[in-house]
Amino acid sequence: MSYIHIENAGKTFLQNGEEFTALADVNLDIEKGEFICLLGPSGCGKSTLLNGIAGFDLVNKGSITIDGEEVKGPSTNNVTIFQNYGLLPWRTVLKNVELGLESQNMDKKKRKEIARKYLQVVKLENFENSFPHQLSGGMQQRVAIARALAVNPEILFMDEPFGALDAITRMKLQDDILDICKNEKKTIIFVTHDIEEAVYLADRIVVMTPNPGKVKGVLTVPLHHFRDRTSGDFLLVRDKIFELLNMKTEETIEYQI
Ligand SMILES: Nc1ncnc2c1ncn2[C@@H]1O[C@H](COP(=O)(O)OP(=O)(O)O)[C@@H](O)[C@H]1O
Ligand SMILES: [Mg+2]
Repeated sequence: MSYIHIENAGKTFLQNGEEFTALADVNLDIEKGEFICLLGPSGCGKSTLLNGIAGFDLVNKGSITIDGEEVKGPSTNNVTIFQNYGLLPWRTVLKNVELGLESQNMDKKKRKEIARKYLQVVKLENFENSFPHQLSGGMQQRVAIARALAVNPEILFMDEPFGALDAITRMKLQDDILDICKNEKKTIIFVTHDIEEAVYLADRIVVMTPNPGKVKGVLTVPLHHFRDRTSGDFLLVRDKIFELLNMKTEETIEYQI
């Protein structure tokens, strides 16, 4: 069985006393080490699916397993990075990175050592004594990435992590995350509504559409990292995604280019 196995997964919420289907019939298999982007317009169930896999808010139809185990709640093998960084303003950068390690039985010296190592990975080693408000948005998100990596998770969930950043900072962080992925060999589930971001980052793109939220197609990106955003091949993949998003079909399509 695949590392992450999602079978007929769905989620309904009660909205004003009525059942609302946020996610319907998702079937998806993800292998270890894959970079998966969940892509689609706002409200198509990306966060709902991510929260179901991460165990924050379980699906109420079908099943999701990781390594053969049914997801029943958040696991210490996973970590999630959100758009708003989630840093504690009263803690220094170093202390923020140490945060996840504090619940582990580890002496202070070792904790500091690991936190420093990951600050180096995100190139913020000279800012360990700064406070979050003294850093730019991009730097704050790099602190959040360092904090996530410090606990050595197997899966990194990222829910529109670069959504609040300007385009140039965003491109820079996209390269950083690809670098990290290559060196640290994580499985990454990355939510975005930005088609170019998905084409730039993903091994496979899960294209989703709303009402009800469902997977329209899964597209394997046939390009090597680091990708040239202006190349013909890049634009071709982007066009295929537009096509998928606009396609009127009930079936889920496996797309290869
Ligand atoms: N806790 C909730 N209660 C009721 N409806 C919800 C809840 N969470 C999400 N929804 C609805 O489910 C749909 C999918 O939401 P979400 O997964 O957040 O979409 P996305 O992340 O793709 O923007 C939306 O229509 C949203 O209003
Ligand atoms: Mg969302």
